Amino acid sequence: MSHQSALIEDDILGYLQAHENKSFLRFITCGSVDDGKSTLIGRLLYDSKLIYEDQLSALESDSKKVGTQGEKIDFALLVDGLAAEREQGITIDVAYRFFSTDQRKFIVADTPGHEQYTRNMATGASTADLAVILIDARHGVMTQTRRHSFIASLLGIKHIVVAINKMDLVHFDQTVFEKIETEYCDFAKNLGFESILCIPMSALEGDNITSQSGNTPWYHGAALLPYLETIDVSSHTSDDAFRMPVQWVNRPNLDFRGFSGTVAGGSVAPGDEIVVLPSANRSKVSRIVTYNGDLDKASTDQAVTLVLEDEIDISRGDVICGGQAPAEQTDQFAAHLLWMHDEALFPGRQYLLKTANRIVPATVTDLKHKINVNTLDHQSGKTLELNEVGVCNIHTSQPIAFDPYNANRKTGSFILIDRRTNTTIGAGMIDFSLRRAQNVHWQALEIDKTARAQQKHQKPCMLWFTGLSGSGKSTVANLVEKRLFDLGRHTYTLDGDNVRHGLNNDLGFTDADRVENIRRVSETAKLMVDAGTIVLVSFISPFTSERRMARDLVEDGEFIEVFISTPLDVCEQRDVKGLYAKARRGEIKNFTGIDSDYEKPENPEIDIDTSQKTADQAAVEIVAYLEKNGYLDG
Ligand code: ADX
Repeated sequence: MSHQSALIEDDILGYLQAHENKSFLRFITCGSVDDGKSTLIGRLLYDSKLIYEDQLSALESDSKKVGTQGEKIDFALLVDGLAAEREQGITIDVAYRFFSTDQRKFIVADTPGHEQYTRNMATGASTADLAVILIDARHGVMTQTRRHSFIASLLGIKHIVVAINKMDLVHFDQTVFEKIETEYCDFAKNLGFESILCIPMSALEGDNITSQSGNTPWYHGAALLPYLETIDVSSHTSDDAFRMPVQWVNRPNLDFRGFSGTVAGGSVAPGDEIVVLPSANRSKVSRIVTYNGDLDKASTDQAVTLVLEDEIDISRGDVICGGQAPAEQTDQFAAHLLWMHDEALFPGRQYLLKTANRIVPATVTDLKHKINVNTLDHQSGKTLELNEVGVCNIHTSQPIAFDPYNANRKTGSFILIDRRTNTTIGAGMIDFSLRRAQNVHWQALEIDKTARAQQKHQKPCMLWFTGLSGSGKSTVANLVEKRLFDLGRHTYTLDGDNVRHGLNNDLGFTDADRVENIRRVSETAKLMVDAGTIVLVSFISPFTSERRMARDLVEDGEFIEVFISTPLDVCEQRDVKGLYAKARRGEIKNFTGIDSDYEKPENPEIDIDTSQKTADQAAVEIVAYLEKNGYLDG
């Protein structure tokens, strides 16, 4: 290894010890290929001299073969490791690189600059203490400079280095530097950064990277590496309130019961009072156990097992907090949300929300506005598309323990997960709990669903008819209701065409509107089930997610999915309302089956194709299902 340190040769244990005790700086670099980002990181790695000899000789020979710098070393080659990147000359995904100097250890997250990779940048930024934002001195502050700065600020980065690069190409002109510095600082003044340092540099030539350059005698600030080695980024972490989400309850035998997790904020010592959320039980820490023996203090990022003085009930997913300043709990909060998926966000759709310690179903109830990440302007919108940032209200199905993101990045952040595909689709930063979450409580009602159902001599349920327009949903539902009515049952039908004239007359047929349409209808149907009624719901309801949401709203057995599976060509031939013909002529847009999706149910309770059976036969079959399964007993 090329690392030059006298200690390595003379005192290897001393060297390792010194290395161990060095502080860590995590930083992110933002900029595009053209700004010279890879060259900058390559030079930092090279100048820190923590590269293997074989890497060094490969770099030298690669530089001659494929480099862009003639006889000189092409530092970018150290970084642009992926073959695809080299070929296209761009950097993709987040690459984490480790390097170290005698003063400090570093982890640098290198993320691409193009707009579509905003999510990668957010991933890298979420754990970084500092961002190095590259600006090409010839071009000055660009749209992407603003975007990178906004995302850095959104993700809680407090320290910025503006690397005003390629100064050699503007003859190290002080006025060029100062103009960019003024423009940047003016733009960034409302982004909440604690420090901003602009450094004039040439990554390629090495000016102001490891030491002050003779080419910029007018610059009196630090060079990049010495600055990164000495900047204090710890200001906010020392007095954070103690937080530890419980990852597991460690109970190897009856004599030991400890709670294991990684400290997510503040510190704790034996004797400290703690409070556990959600139970609000209190106790004191008696021991801090680790693999290497007991500790007298544990702080952020340390993985420990806490033993408490009292036998209180704690389970996985609970959060142990400092007794003086516990986290908040809420099921409704405002958050900034960064959307990371090709399929847009739909307010009203149920997703899974994962915090540091729990996963709960959640919906975005209201998208207040989007933020144009290039101009910081607020814009209205119904959905968020890939890489867009919005401010929204979120409702979780159970309360979660949290801190506002600006107080704790670990307990204040969450991701949203698609229920069907299990992919991460959004990243969020919690702003504050909504006051209405504290003020709206469940009203316990004396007369409950069971009492109402008994009075009506039936088992209430949702008969959910789904299928294409013209498949026969409404016709069949109508016949089923007539039969049930004749049997003296209490029923009601919610039909797409009718409900869209009243409750949902503000909704059209975009995917987002259909999601909201079905959300409102399921909530309405749920109230009717609660009232003891058999509700027939007849909507195209094209998406699996919303049908599942409706199913989850009621108890097991109360949701009966009736898939009217009549094929598209038959529905189109029937074309009772003439809508298919219009859709084919392009007169109506987003028509289900033509230019809008229908996701077929995978396991419907009942599947009926009305091109194979008459509507009467279908109705008989459905009523028979209800009889057989005890819905009409009583
Ligand atoms: S859903 O997709 O949101 O569930 P819903 O069942 O409420 O749809 O409404 C469907 C009815 O609206 C259809 O039966 C049809 O009469 C009418 N309609 C008008 N435009 C469209 C469209 N673009 N796609 C589907 N149905 C449409």
